[in-house]
Amino acid sequence: MKKKLILDVDTGIDDAIGILLAIKSRQFDILGITTVSGNVSLESATLNTCKILDLLEEKDIPVIKGADSPILRKPFFEHRIHGEDGLGGALKDVPITHKYSEGFAPDFIINSILSFPGEVTLVLTGPLTNLALAVKKCPQITKHVKEVIFMGGVVKGVGNVTPTSEFNTFVDPEAAKIVLHAGFESIIQVGLDVTRKALLTEEHIKLLKNEKLARYINGSTADYQQKYMERYGMRACAMHDPLAVGIAINRNIVSSEKHYVDVETKSELCDGQLVCDFQNRLNKPANLQVCLHVDSEAFFELFIAILNS
Ligand code: RIB
Ligand code: CA
Repeated sequence: MKKKLILDVDTGIDDAIGILLAIKSRQFDILGITTVSGNVSLESATLNTCKILDLLEEKDIPVIKGADSPILRKPFFEHRIHGEDGLGGALKDVPITHKYSEGFAPDFIINSILSFPGEVTLVLTGPLTNLALAVKKCPQITKHVKEVIFMGGVVKGVGNVTPTSEFNTFVDPEAAKIVLHAGFESIIQVGLDVTRKALLTEEHIKLLKNEKLARYINGSTADYQQKYMERYGMRACAMHDPLAVGIAINRNIVSSEKHYVDVETKSELCDGQLVCDFQNRLNKPANLQVCLHVDSEAFFELFIAILNS
């Protein structure tokens, strides 16, 4: 039986590759893909998601729009990384045939979880706005969702948008706080501590036999790889979001620990920082599985095998 899955995305370059991985894995009954403002506007994230479904000639997966801004804050886009269009310029002039569906993502998330209690996995790879709104409207989804996996935060390393904070939790820290305190029984955080070790390189792309996908992935990550080269001296593209999908496919590619984690929302310097109480100094019950190690080789073996399947 395939796992029932909802992907919640702010389709940018790595979200798009995460969507490709989820669909090509054939491990999931993808109930829908919900979109949120994050890397790019809600409109662009939605159109980019439809473009990726067209690329795979996938006609049956509904795309449902969600929040067009964080819960309290203004949108904070990341065009420097993802390009003006959000896909690094790939598929820019491609006509879009996949239409997004009516409805609002938080309602879709609630209805799906309540329709299939204990069966739905949520993989979120953008700001947590849609899930926070869903939890506020229907708190009991925390008891009926099978598991929540989200790409966001950093608990031991440095940030990628401020010295302390990762993009997804920085954009909507209030949403992250709502999600972390909602009482989800099975929730795992896939942060920069592990995703920075899942670096896609040209060697990996050369192993992709599917010409269309290899050309797309190469094209969409080219600028990102160049920027990475300028900053770190090697051409690579961090597979932040695809790793979150990879963990939904095979949990064993990471190791994690359960700790009490909270989010900073009132700080001049550390806003959006995920704070992990490794030493249990606050004496609060653990509320999050925190990924600390990743078997990057195992991830890319899985990644390449699935995209070549
Ligand atoms: O910090 C990386 C995360 O922020 C990824 O999900 C990327 O797509 C952006 O949303
Ligand atoms: Ca993302």
